[in-house]
Amino acid sequence: MTETTELERRASAFAADGGRENWDGAASSGHLVTGELDLSHNVILYLDDITVSFDGFRALNKLSLTIDAGELRCIIGPNGAGKTTMMDVITGKTRPDEGKAFFGQTIDLTRMTEPQIAHAGIGRKFQKPTIFEKHTAFENLELAMKADKRVRRSLFASLFDDERDRIAEVLKQIRLDKDADRSAGLLSHGQKQWLEIGMLLMQEPRLLLLDEPVAGMTDDETERTAELFVSLAGKHSLVVVEHDMAFVEALGGKVTVLCEGSVLAEGDLATVQADPRVIEVYLGR
Ligand SMILES: Nc1ncnc2c1ncn2[C@@H]1O[C@H](COP(=O)(O)OP(=O)(O)OP(=O)(O)O)[C@@H](O)[C@H]1O
Ligand SMILES: [Mg+2]
Repeated sequence: MTETTELERRASAFAADGGRENWDGAASSGHLVTGELDLSHNVILYLDDITVSFDGFRALNKLSLTIDAGELRCIIGPNGAGKTTMMDVITGKTRPDEGKAFFGQTIDLTRMTEPQIAHAGIGRKFQKPTIFEKHTAFENLELAMKADKRVRRSLFASLFDDERDRIAEVLKQIRLDKDADRSAGLLSHGQKQWLEIGMLLMQEPRLLLLDEPVAGMTDDETERTAELFVSLAGKHSLVVVEHDMAFVEALGGKVTVLCEGSVLAEGDLATVQADPRVIEVYLGR
């Protein structure tokens, strides 16, 4: 066996799921935390009776929520309802005082660090894009490639065809294929947001959390973003927090209304929009 093929063999063994867990788990904490994502009950995210208090104020108050595998869920609700705090709990940024948070059947999110949760397959998009402005759109996606692939690549210095194909596929999904070689800093606000979503997609997340993704976008960009999210559902599960009702309508999924840290109503948009309690606290403002 030549040296190159041996390296390749080791690299691809290392890139296989089990190897990846071992590598990162061992490097970061000395033990394994995440197992395989178990979707046997078709549930990707399960929150049960989550409470988060800040100096006695309950930002989340016995919040319970279930997201199905492949679902596209919208979360709406007044300012301060706890929407962002909920995402903080799911991603490990905030520890709940009480309650359960499971990714699939078996992965206990309340026992994991933020990097472990990201690695387990939960991607989060923050409002302000964190792209590399001086790099091209293509390079941004290349940089966002999963760490295991980056190591694999450092052994060979150049991109594999499958990696190049994956970047091309994501560029197309986020409608930046014609802008692949432009510096990210020169893209429009909406395109920068898409690029950041593309960077998340390079990590192949199973669950994507998107907090007010269309804030500041033009109407046209907002429509394109809705199409993108609808196309991602199924393969990925998405939880989208938004105040823009036209966007929520375009997504067409189930809607959960949060208020004062718990679920006030849930159903299709028309149903929750007709709910007098929802009108009182949110839509009727
Ligand atoms: N780190 C913190 N310390 C103290 N209070 C906090 C903290 N984070 C959030 N809160 C409070 O918790 C409540 C819920 O905030 P959160 O940001 O989750 O609301 P939201 O639903 O995302 O609102 P918006 O629609 O304005 O983004 C608010 O009253 C907020 O002030
Ligand atoms: Mg918020």
